Amino acid sequence: KIKLIIDTDPGIDDAMAILAAFNSPEVEIIGLTTIFGNVRTPMATQNAFVLLNLAQQMQVPVAEGSCDQLNGLTKTRVADFVHGAEGFGNTYQQLVEGKKHSLTAAQFIANAASEHPGEVVVLALGPVTNIALAYKVDPQLRTRLKEVVILGGAFQSNGNVNPAAEANILGDPDAADYVMEQGNNVRLVSLDVTHQVEFTSKDMDALHGRGRFGSFISDISKFYIEYYRKSYGVDSCFVHDPTAFAAVFRPDLFTWQAGKVLVLTEGVARGMTIMDHCVRNWAAPHAWSDRPLVQVAVAVQADKVAPMLLER
Ligand code: BDR
Ligand code: CA
Repeated sequence: KIKLIIDTDPGIDDAMAILAAFNSPEVEIIGLTTIFGNVRTPMATQNAFVLLNLAQQMQVPVAEGSCDQLNGLTKTRVADFVHGAEGFGNTYQQLVEGKKHSLTAAQFIANAASEHPGEVVVLALGPVTNIALAYKVDPQLRTRLKEVVILGGAFQSNGNVNPAAEANILGDPDAADYVMEQGNNVRLVSLDVTHQVEFTSKDMDALHGRGRFGSFISDISKFYIEYYRKSYGVDSCFVHDPTAFAAVFRPDLFTWQAGKVLVLTEGVARGMTIMDHCVRNWAAPHAWSDRPLVQVAVAVQADKVAPMLLER
């Protein structure tokens, strides 16, 4: 079994990914770590407890992550227009009391990797601040993590916050660039592939009454689908975070290309991801030259991934 830490900003599609993970025998969730993004960090932590309570998995540790970006600034923008004010489509879940882990998210990740070297996969479903901090906490982490799978970026297509940037990367571009620079065994699942994996409003209606998970997802997705209806003119939603989860245990359903990725940290295109496809010899070194190779998903078998995720 894959020992999985999910770093998350729940979030409607985060909830889909986490609940699907609890229904997946291929993985063992050894912890949730929380981060700002769709909601602020304390709300992300609260929502993590809501999901654990729903899954009857309250024994899973929740380590709270950073409230600030890597550069020390506090991100004030939240995605309430996509995920609702409390992150679950304005369905206002009951408060679930949980006890936060004594370690920070970054320390928790570093600890888990040193306890189980080569076995831990981190699935990052929000801005990657905690991952960058974990690399800083423990310089050995790079070699100890089995893999970091990140939902983030847009290479062939526009971003989803503006033409340049995808939301998770824009949430903390400095952290993302740092991870692209330091990271070993990093895989990126970007909008290029997640915009091909959809759940329709019919799919979501049909989930209602199919167990606790089905009804919960069906309820919270109404607001999410409404956002897609207004923004993209579709009667469905993209399932970003669940698709990244699928890449954790079924990488064979994706086509991967190795490249070196840089994130713009300044200017109007802050948060943009640019890959050196490494298919030619450059005459002179450039800003990408010394970076490690990361695996970027360039195609997905959406006809297999979407039903598999829906089922779970
Ligand atoms: C990403 O941003 C968040 O809104 C979603 O949860 C997902 O992780 C998509 O850009
Ligand atoms: Ca997310």
